[in-house]
Amino acid sequence: MGKGNSEDFFKKIIAHAKEYGFIFQSSEIYDGLSAAYDYGPFGVELKNNIKDYWWKSMVQYHENIVGLDSAIFMHPSTWKASGHLEAFNDPMIDNKDSKKRYRADELIEDHLDKIEKKIDKEIKKAAKRFGDDFDEDQFRSTHPKVLKYTEKIEAIKNRMNNALENEQLDELKKLIEEENITCPVSGSANWTDVRQFNLMFSTELGSTSENNKIYLRPETAQGIFVNYLNVQKTGRMKLPFGIAQIGKAFRNEIVARQFIFRMREFEQMELQYFVQPGTEMEWLEYWKNERVKWHKALGIDDDFFRLYEHEKLAHYANAAYDIEFDFPFGFKELEGIHSRTDFDLSAHQEHSGKKLQYYDPETQESYVPYVVETSIGLDRMFLAVLTAAYKEEKLQDNSERVVLKIPPILSPYKAAVFPLTKKDGLPEKGREVMDKLKFNFMCQYEEKDTIGKRYRRHDAIGTPYCITVDHQTLEDNTVTIRERDSMEQERVEIDRLQEIIQKRLSM
Ligand code: GAP
Repeated sequence: MGKGNSEDFFKKIIAHAKEYGFIFQSSEIYDGLSAAYDYGPFGVELKNNIKDYWWKSMVQYHENIVGLDSAIFMHPSTWKASGHLEAFNDPMIDNKDSKKRYRADELIEDHLDKIEKKIDKEIKKAAKRFGDDFDEDQFRSTHPKVLKYTEKIEAIKNRMNNALENEQLDELKKLIEEENITCPVSGSANWTDVRQFNLMFSTELGSTSENNKIYLRPETAQGIFVNYLNVQKTGRMKLPFGIAQIGKAFRNEIVARQFIFRMREFEQMELQYFVQPGTEMEWLEYWKNERVKWHKALGIDDDFFRLYEHEKLAHYANAAYDIEFDFPFGFKELEGIHSRTDFDLSAHQEHSGKKLQYYDPETQESYVPYVVETSIGLDRMFLAVLTAAYKEEKLQDNSERVVLKIPPILSPYKAAVFPLTKKDGLPEKGREVMDKLKFNFMCQYEEKDTIGKRYRRHDAIGTPYCITVDHQTLEDNTVTIRERDSMEQERVEIDRLQEIIQKRLSM
């Protein structure tokens, strides 16, 4: 079970995100638009800080990686070449009684989770009975009921993966019927046939004739591939090199749920790393390790992460990993790392009739490079940060606080400046402190409410430092600085504030 693995915990995070101006439902005054969200004043800061942290560690840190900002609209042939028109489908099924639509594979996976839970229950029961002598591995490999469940899970998984790989939609329906999987809303097993559903949104460019149909990009990657030669030539890049991009992507998800985990409009941070054919597995290993390091450098507990190697591969990949995160609803994909071979560049070469090759000065050969991709959803990273950061704490005086222990480098505000009272020249001195800090850090000046309330508010938005200006400040130019996590306070000279905050932000 995960850290905060419960519906209750998830509801608290969603409510907190709204109450403190991180995330609002899109078009809320019209009762909202499903699977679209707006980022409020603190949300946009956190989001920008995640982008900045990613961009710096990819583009600034790696001398052979450059950036790109390509258009969302692309020539429709792009999606024919990339395979998205043909293969970017999800198998969907409708329940005739509730009229609810589901992804057939997710229905089956939820069913597998239920069987998995039965195994967990047996293990818990036995662990209680045997105490310290309990050997879980032995129990799993010998207990008849657990063995039966494990075999069942394996058999269902194999059947599902086979059916998905071979696009046997009838077989998926048969599996759902045979396992007696019912609709979570109506409770009935009155299902339609399984059909493929393309996830791309389309619109018309200019006039409304069918020939002008274009698509909103479902991944930012294709903007990088079609610009491969432009960037390689103008940047005079030598293999291996990378192109990084942050931008919006759109998918008409069949079941959009779980808050900002699965949205119809979302943002991706993607790197396409171009390498010599034959070296892609080494680079896949390299980027897998680099990306895990990126997450861990934030100081988020190791237990939140898990690596998963794909059995079922996307249409463009020959090997792939997911970095999974323990969200409030369990471990799910946060980031994908794919070896995409030369699939995309070769396909664009073929469809456009333009050569997309690399001339290797060392071997004096021209070839289509292979690609290793890292792709992380910005919104999912945002949810991961909130999940790990949200804490309810009981304090020594028996009061309680909700604190977001966001890694300081990502915190929306780095410091808050409070004059103790609104008189005696303290606000003026507070403004002076604020003016010293605000060019380098996002800071907030607050004089309303008691100091205690101001602390609570900044705990709730994750501000690492609160600085209080009091009467002593006027005499000796010192302030108290309170650290968010330990709540410890220290008296320091105003001139040292910059250095103290900067030290905490250093990676
Ligand atoms: N270019 C490769 C690609 O797009 P993907 O696994 O489909 O691969 C990459 O997506 C990442 O984008 C995922 O790991 C996830 O973090 C994010 N993502 C995908 N679909 C999403 C959605 N509907 N809402 C939010 N994030 C999503």
